[in-house]
Amino acid sequence: MTNGAERAVADGPKSEIRIVADEAALHDAAAHAVAAALVGAAADGARPSVALSGGTTPRGVYAALAAGARDRMPVPWERVEVFWSDERHVPPTHPDSNYRMARESLLSRVPIADAHVHRIRGEDPDPIATAARYGAEVRSVIGTTDGVPRFDLVLLGLGADGHTASLFPGSSALAPDAPLVAAPWVEALQARRFTMTLPLLNAARVVMFLVAGAAKSQAVRDVLQPGPSTSWLPARSVRPAGRLLWLVDRAAAAQLAPPLP
Ligand code: 6PG
Repeated sequence: MTNGAERAVADGPKSEIRIVADEAALHDAAAHAVAAALVGAAADGARPSVALSGGTTPRGVYAALAAGARDRMPVPWERVEVFWSDERHVPPTHPDSNYRMARESLLSRVPIADAHVHRIRGEDPDPIATAARYGAEVRSVIGTTDGVPRFDLVLLGLGADGHTASLFPGSSALAPDAPLVAAPWVEALQARRFTMTLPLLNAARVVMFLVAGAAKSQAVRDVLQPGPSTSWLPARSVRPAGRLLWLVDRAAAAQLAPPLP
């Protein structure tokens, strides 16, 4: 047990589930884990790279990260390259924009260089072309390993249906030949989304899932302790070559059967 968190190993030596008391504890634990990952990636003057998650859960994490910047959490923000693991097909000023959420909660509060903020242009009329351009931008900025750009850190959320980023069950973006960044139509939302796909997510050095709330407890159980009918959930396909950390609050972990996987 560390800091009141329960540690467990899930699916192998480089995977870990850390259960914390509640969403506020998740924000704090995640902010420290993100800072540690970025500081670690900044060794020897390197430019750390992170793909931010969207949705609502990360807002508190980003705010805690920004606050940590004031308390001298030593992230070299002037060198960090920021991307998004997914985005909605909306302008950057739209309330649903993942870029807007990160700009408000974090990027406007840390000394990050504008040139290092690589948003997905959700306002563009041709989403397929926009996704292709974003994939090219990722390739041009992030170093590649075996031909795939390798982020230092990718942040992800989990939907109640087992989706992550904008990889929804049955999505065309889950196809093995999908581009690194795709623009799938999401039937369940009746909306177009932009999303990094599994080859890009799984190339990362560290992937961190941030999950809070009782509404996610079934999905957490189905992804981390799958039955025959749930082994296909998109979030289960996130198995990075590097480290996988699940940061989950107790409410979201409530259906995990002991002992933890
Ligand atoms: C998005 C996300 C999505 C999100 C999950 C969880 O753009 O909505 O990237 O995958 O992480 O749906 O969302 P909440 O944090 O709002 O529950």
